[in-house]
Amino acid sequence: MSRTIIVSNRLPTKVQRTDDSLTFQPSEGGLATGLGSIYREDDNVWVGWPGLFVETTEEEEYIAEQLRADSMAPVFLTEAEIRDFYEGFSNSTLWPTFHYFAQYATYEQEHWEAYVAVNEKFCQAVLELAGPDDTIWVHDYQLLLLPEMLRQQRPECTIGFFLHIPFPSHELIRVLPWRAELLRGMLGADLIGFHTFGYMRHFLSAVSQILGIPSLNGQVETPTRTVLVDAFPMGIDYKRYEQTASSETAQQHEQDYREALREARVILSIDRLDYTKGIAQRLRAFELLLQRYPEWREQVSLVMLVVPSRDQVPQYAALKEEIDELVGRINAQYRTISWNPIHYFYRSFPLEELVALYRLAEVALVTPMRDGMNLVAKEFIASKVDQRGVLILSERAGAARELSDAIIINPTDAGQLAEAMHDALVMPEEEQTQRMTAMQALVRQYDVFAWTKLFMDRLAYSKIKQLTMATE
Ligand code: G6P
Repeated sequence: MSRTIIVSNRLPTKVQRTDDSLTFQPSEGGLATGLGSIYREDDNVWVGWPGLFVETTEEEEYIAEQLRADSMAPVFLTEAEIRDFYEGFSNSTLWPTFHYFAQYATYEQEHWEAYVAVNEKFCQAVLELAGPDDTIWVHDYQLLLLPEMLRQQRPECTIGFFLHIPFPSHELIRVLPWRAELLRGMLGADLIGFHTFGYMRHFLSAVSQILGIPSLNGQVETPTRTVLVDAFPMGIDYKRYEQTASSETAQQHEQDYREALREARVILSIDRLDYTKGIAQRLRAFELLLQRYPEWREQVSLVMLVVPSRDQVPQYAALKEEIDELVGRINAQYRTISWNPIHYFYRSFPLEELVALYRLAEVALVTPMRDGMNLVAKEFIASKVDQRGVLILSERAGAARELSDAIIINPTDAGQLAEAMHDALVMPEEEQTQRMTAMQALVRQYDVFAWTKLFMDRLAYSKIKQLTMATE
C-alpha cells in the first residue's frame, strides 16, 4: 500500500526544553489541524524539525521515539544550520524577498550552501521512508529545493508542493543570485499550489522570464514533464473556533475581560512578531484615531497580542524595540487613571482565551504590509457566533481576495486606516450582521479540510494525467 508523507520545516508538535526535561506540545497551527487526519492515518508520516537544538544522541533518540508513536519523523538541525539555514537563508533572504522587503534581504553564499545542505538532509530523511509509489507533500519556502531533489531519487513518486507565503513579482525573484536553482527546485513537483491566482501568475511569469519555460492554462511544460500550477486558498478548522466560541469557558473569559476593561470597546490585533504584519503602522494609525476623534478616548482600547517569533534575526529584534517604544509613548500620552489606550501582550495565548478575545472585540485589525493568506482574519470570523463585529483587512493579505465584505484598506495609509476604525466603530449592527454572515458562509465552506481534500485530489489527478500522457 502506498503512503502519504508530509514534509515541512516544523513538525506539528513543538518540543521544548524546560529546566531538565523535554515537553511535547501539539501545535495549534492551521496546517497541523488540516493535515492531522492524513498523517495519522495508516502508515503515513510527517517529516520535520522538532524546533529545538538537541545536543546529545540519547536525547535525539528519545525525541525520535516519542514522535514516532505519533506518526512523525524528526530532522534534527545543528546550531550552525539553525543560524545559516533557518535564521539565514530562509528568514533573512527568502522571507523578506518574497514579502517585498528586499531592503532587508541578505545574500550570503554560506547561507545558500546551508540551505542546499539542509534541503538535502530533509531529502535523505524522506527517502528513508518513501517507496516508489508514495505521495509526498512538501510545504513552504524553507524547502523550495526539495521537490526536485526528491524527483531525482524517486522519479515515479507523486510530489506536491504548497507555498504558504506570497510569491512576488518576478522582478523581486530575479534579484536573488540563486533564482534559477530555486525555481527548478519547485518544478520537481507534479502540482504546485499557491493561496491566490496573483501569486500563481507571478510564479508562471518568473518561470517564463527566468528559465524560459512556457506555460499554458497553469501547465508548465518542462523538457521532461508537465507541472500543474493552481490556487488553493487555505482555510481554518471553522467548527473548532465556532464551538470554542460557544463554550462556557470562552464566555466566562470574555465576561472577565469585559469587566476588567470597564466596558471599554475593543479593537483587537493578533500577530506573530513580524515586520510584514504592519504592527508599528497599525499603532500609529490608532494614535491618529485618538488625535482625530477625541471622543473615542476613554471609550476604546486596542488589545494587541504579539506572539514572539524569530527574535534572533536582527530585524525582528529591532521591531520588538520599536513596538515597545511606540506602545509606551502612546500610552504615556493618552492614558488616564481608569483607561489604557493599548493593552499589549508579548506572548502566546491558549485557544479559549484567544477565542474569548475574538468574541469580545468589536473590530479586528488585520493589516499586514504583505501576507500569504492570514488565518487570524478567518478565525475572528468563525468566532463571531453572534454575527456582530467588523473586520478591517489589508488589501495585501491573501485573505482579501476572498473576504470582500471586510473593510478593505491600504495598510500604509495611516489616515485611511484611522477612518476605517472610526467607520467600524459606528457601523450599524444590521450592516455588521450582513457582512459577517456573508463572510462566515464562505469561511465555513472552504475550511482547512476542504483545502486539504482539494489539493490532494488535484495531486492525484496530476499523476493520472502524467501517466496517461506517458502512455499516449
Ligand atoms: C509562517 C510560515 C510558516 C512558519 C510560520 C512560523 O506562517 O509560512 O512556514 O512555520 O510562519 O514561523 P517559524 O519561523 O516559527 O516556523
